[in-house]
Amino acid sequence: MAGELVRATRGGDSLVPTDTPPPGDPAGVMPLAPGPPMALRPAYPIQTSRLLLRPLTSADTDDLLEYRSIPEVCRYVPFLPMDRAAVAQKLADAWARTEITDEGQGVVLGVEVAGTGRLVGDVNLFLHSRKHRCAEVGWVLSPQHSGRGYATEAAHAVLHLAFDEMKVHRVMARVDARNLPSVRLAQRLGMRQEAHLLQNEWFKGEWGDEFDFALLESEWVAQHREPAATP
Ligand SMILES: CC(C)(COP(=O)(O)OP(=O)(O)OC[C@H]1O[C@@H](n2cnc3c(N)ncnc32)[C@H](O)[C@@H]1OP(=O)(O)O)[C@@H](O)C(=O)NCCC(=O)NCCS
Repeated sequence: MAGELVRATRGGDSLVPTDTPPPGDPAGVMPLAPGPPMALRPAYPIQTSRLLLRPLTSADTDDLLEYRSIPEVCRYVPFLPMDRAAVAQKLADAWARTEITDEGQGVVLGVEVAGTGRLVGDVNLFLHSRKHRCAEVGWVLSPQHSGRGYATEAAHAVLHLAFDEMKVHRVMARVDARNLPSVRLAQRLGMRQEAHLLQNEWFKGEWGDEFDFALLESEWVAQHREPAATP
């Protein structure tokens, strides 16, 4: 699948071909930003205090349909309400990836409430550039399970994968400016709003504004530094 994927924007998982070499560097000879080689090969499931993050399987079809078929869930994300065939197709291709080994690749992970076996949403991580060490995160949660911090907890685990396992320098999230729950989620994650993109996209029949949120590795480390012990 490498090379044929993928740009995830608006927290979704739209697939856009990206085979074009970077402008001004057709041979890819410009030096990479410093850091270890970038790859993500997590041991699944990834456990948080209440959740398990793991690859999606065909056994998740009904749970996926339960929320990904709802027009309101799809209002501000690139995908349209899905039917069983659309879910099956995604499970067979884009969602089948469980590792990131190069830029242009992303993983979509199911979010399960531990001990229930029930899928309540999905989160994604997409590596935009090895050279610039930058990635993008996204999230979708079933409305039945909203308002409990599950999406925040799952997205925080994805940031952990990005910064602490894949060693990226910067993670961004692009959010429709009208998508206030998503804006609040990015803020809860400690992401900074860096841009308000005015009518930058013809989106579902109208010009849409988007916000870019981002977090640098240095900010992530500072957020997670243990407070100094008091004597
Ligand atoms: C964006 C989306 C994931 C947010 O869902 P959410 O339920 O608000 O997010 P969380 O699960 O993190 O829950 C946070 C809410 O629960 C509350 N909450 C309760 N317990 C909590 C806890 N333990 N930790 C954190 N928040 C908690 C928070 O206060 C917050 O409510 P608020 O935003 O009204 O202040 C959801 O609206 C969605 O899937 N939308 C459709 C898809 C979409 O647009 N995706 C984003 C594309 S960019």
